[in-house]
Amino acid sequence: MKILAIDTSCDETSVAVVSGRRVFSHVEYSQIAMHEKWGGIVPSIAKRAHEERIDWVIDETLKHSKVKTLKNIDAVAVTYGPGLAIALEVGLKKAKEISNKYTLPLIGINHMEGHLYSPFVQNSKGNPKRKFSFPYIGLLVSGGHTEIILFKDNLSYEVLGKTRDDAAGEALDKAARILGFGYPGGPILEHLAKDVGNIDTYHFPQPMIRSENFEFSFSGLKTSFLYKVRAMSENKKNNNLGYLASSFQEAIFQTVIKKTQKAMRQTGVKNVLVGGGVAVNNRLRYLMRKTVRETSGFVLFPSYKYLNFDNAAMIGVVGAIRAERNLFVKNLEELDRKPRLSLLQSTIK
Ligand code: KG4
Ligand code: ZN
Repeated sequence: MKILAIDTSCDETSVAVVSGRRVFSHVEYSQIAMHEKWGGIVPSIAKRAHEERIDWVIDETLKHSKVKTLKNIDAVAVTYGPGLAIALEVGLKKAKEISNKYTLPLIGINHMEGHLYSPFVQNSKGNPKRKFSFPYIGLLVSGGHTEIILFKDNLSYEVLGKTRDDAAGEALDKAARILGFGYPGGPILEHLAKDVGNIDTYHFPQPMIRSENFEFSFSGLKTSFLYKVRAMSENKKNNNLGYLASSFQEAIFQTVIKKTQKAMRQTGVKNVLVGGGVAVNNRLRYLMRKTVRETSGFVLFPSYKYLNFDNAAMIGVVGAIRAERNLFVKNLEELDRKPRLSLLQSTIK
């Protein structure tokens, strides 16, 4: 079954052609440059950009795949949440339009499901071969989300905890802005931290680390960072950017890793999946591998860089799994955008 997948949940207009776990083509049009000067994503700009580009992105994706035209597609998969309401609407409208015009079944996908499956997405040759070996603890760390999930089986999840305020990536972005850098801040901090050897000089608090639950809260950490930076500027000791970046990054990563470790201990699950934009970070990958190895488990990250970020390929792969189980949308009107959709509500049929 060849699936056309669409994701417009945030700032990437992304389309893929997928069959099973194999991706035949994937094209995305990033809006980063348009949002950069505002220091974050502006929903109205995102909506307009998705509208202007979606037809072109679909055409390019088809052109680069062996199917070439929509007539050779068997089903359409589209993200309906969580994400920016007015951005999600663009993809949904287009998916319904195609579904109607070509009488194709439609599959509604939860964006977070896509991130959870992202380590299993394969290239067109079927690599990497990775088999499923449930259960996993899933850690999703992006600009919009920080969640720990018990991934029990195909399409079966339990959210153990999420952030109460800022997401991990958002906190990194805000810290970079405090230091005077643009968006996205994650890669900038990673670079600065690496230059000083990832040393934790300032020992920022690791929020909620002693709490019994799996929830996160990063907004207080950002405030501690701001005070520290201000105090250092007053003392004219502002030449320590690398140590500040490194210590801040370490506080975030230690927090998400310790909570993941706690989830492993409490559930007895040894294997971990990590997804979301922050999962490209090499320091996080190193620390996570080290932690998981201690309990003789393994950790999987997405195999190709683009799969860490928002992309339609992972949406198509979940689409294929849902299609196998006949989980199609029965009535197109029934599928509406759900900006706050949680994984527990992901069984739309
Ligand atoms: O998954 P994503 O593209 O978008 C959301 O769904 O939010 O993730 C974007 C986030 C941003 O916060 C960005 O700063 C972070 O991923 N990010 C990184 C790195 N590259 C991007 N964080 C840490 N290290 C990186 N190298
Ligand atoms: Zn995402």
